[in-house]
Amino acid sequence: MKEFGLSIWANNNYLVENGILRLHYKSNPSLLDITQNIRATGVRGPILLRFPHLIKKQIRSLYNNFNNAIRENNYKGNFNAVFPLKVNQFPHAVNAVVHEGKDYNYGLEAGSKAELVLAMSKTPHKAHITVNGFKDKEMITLGFIAAQCGHKITLTIEGLNELKTIIAVAQTSSLKVPRIGIRVRLHSVGSGTWAKSGGMDAKFGLTSTEIIEAVKILQNASLIKNLSMIHFHIGSQMEDIAPIKKALREAGNIYAELRKMGATSLENINIGGGLAVEYDQHSHSKSRNYSIKEFSSSVVFLLGEIMDAKNVKHPNIFTESGRFIVASHAVLITPVLELFSQDYKENLLHLKEKNPPLIDELIDLNKSLNDVNAIEYMHDALDHMESLFTLFDLGYINLQDRSNAEILVHNIIKKALYLKSATPTNELEQLQVKLQERYLINASIFQSLPDYWGLKQHFPIMPLHHLSKTPHRAASLWDITCDSDGEIRFNPEKPLYLHDVNLDKNDYFLGFFNVGAYQETLGMNHNLFTKPSEYTIDIDEDSYTISNKNESKSLIHILDSIGYNGKNILIQLEKELLDSNFITEKEKTDTLIDLKLFLQQNGYLRTTD
Ligand SMILES: Cc1ncc(COP(=O)(O)O)c(C=O)c1O
Repeated sequence: MKEFGLSIWANNNYLVENGILRLHYKSNPSLLDITQNIRATGVRGPILLRFPHLIKKQIRSLYNNFNNAIRENNYKGNFNAVFPLKVNQFPHAVNAVVHEGKDYNYGLEAGSKAELVLAMSKTPHKAHITVNGFKDKEMITLGFIAAQCGHKITLTIEGLNELKTIIAVAQTSSLKVPRIGIRVRLHSVGSGTWAKSGGMDAKFGLTSTEIIEAVKILQNASLIKNLSMIHFHIGSQMEDIAPIKKALREAGNIYAELRKMGATSLENINIGGGLAVEYDQHSHSKSRNYSIKEFSSSVVFLLGEIMDAKNVKHPNIFTESGRFIVASHAVLITPVLELFSQDYKENLLHLKEKNPPLIDELIDLNKSLNDVNAIEYMHDALDHMESLFTLFDLGYINLQDRSNAEILVHNIIKKALYLKSATPTNELEQLQVKLQERYLINASIFQSLPDYWGLKQHFPIMPLHHLSKTPHRAASLWDITCDSDGEIRFNPEKPLYLHDVNLDKNDYFLGFFNVGAYQETLGMNHNLFTKPSEYTIDIDEDSYTISNKNESKSLIHILDSIGYNGKNILIQLEKELLDSNFITEKEKTDTLIDLKLFLQQNGYLRTTD
């Protein structure tokens, strides 16, 4: 666990050198150095770092793999991709996606009116916009406006009524008619947590009967020339490649049938998103069973095979992978504020001149415990503790003796666990769970890791430093919300071990990785904790630059944003303070200065200065 599964989830993006975690790119800056530089400006609380080079890496990997597969399979269609805005709409993420995707004509996908307007403002005219989700007349008209402005836009219909509205708008306005796509409802169902988008009971898509009806409606309205795409999406984070292949066969055959039915302008298959990210830190529980290479080869090969068998022109391939593109680019960094079982520290022992004999025996066991006798001595210690508790209940030893017994036994178990960590037994593992340490992190799980809260989605977690030492403490993480759900519990199936750090002497920063997809907009202001302060980090050969600084909202700002009047709140508090009794005028003025300062700071704790 010293490596925290880096070789599994990190895709070579990080390396450990002299116990410090570094970016594996150009000047290899350390995450700790970046964090400390930001904190030197006075920022406290969680920090979200964005690394645009990791977005570039993923975009390049997507295009290169598909283009290679197209070459190797002598496939006749081309490859296009759009980034689904729902995955991360925040400006510094989207701007990086658009900037890094420029050379590839990488486009954007929108699933709502606001996202569509954003896509219209950000997508270069050479790239594509695809529009999914339920649409009303206004959203459809926005699509027409985009086409009129020169965008290559495809409105994908989720039902026949949307198609009828498109036709109505086309017949009543002279705006350019956009390309039309049909979302098909596949029989195939995906796998994994998010696999609710496919199957007969799926929320989206047209059945075979509706697809045939749609083609007729388009032919009657003389708009069949606009039908350019069929689309499907069987779910996000598809862990298994088998259902993807099944869905491709189904969608490929629907495409071929529609071409044969006279939809000759139909040239594109949009296979949606779903390309999975490796979130796991343990090799036995990997998140996916395929690579991007296998994924792209399978898509290209299968579509080519289906079209050749039916003698149909190879379609252009579109993907809407989002998680795969942006998950890795963002890292959440939080300081650990406190460790909650330090009360068993050896320096809290208060031994007497004359201790009860069993305590003396515990002292001996603690001193002479070694690699060979560890298990036996630990058993003896547990046995003695039982006896000492009984003696306490019967009034033969006092509270100080009991406290000494707890500290000594706790220490003996800790030492035994440490000495036997390479060969843990069932019993040791269970003890480890019982003895877990609670690490209080200056963050909100609801705000920064909502998928952990809602779906128990695991994110890779590791310290940014102290990495030359093997961690031994079974760790649960507590966030600072007043909610018992704000906890990442120690899970023996996927254990997290952290270091036993003396926080009076050392900092301890934890990184939560692969948090760049979905977490930011899904994050909620539970307890009024706001988005972490965010920064973009551009790395070059010599160093790195920090830009796009966006500090976490102040207390006044968050109250304003949910409908209170921050100014009035301040006026009221000021008046109450000035009218109050029992403090001097000077104390009133000083307290008022403090109060105003507090209201300008974010709500995270400032205990680690
Ligand atoms: C229609 C559509 N396309 C693309 C995506 C993005 O999926 P992913 O982030 O798994 O690539 C989604 C997400 O649910 C979606 O609904």
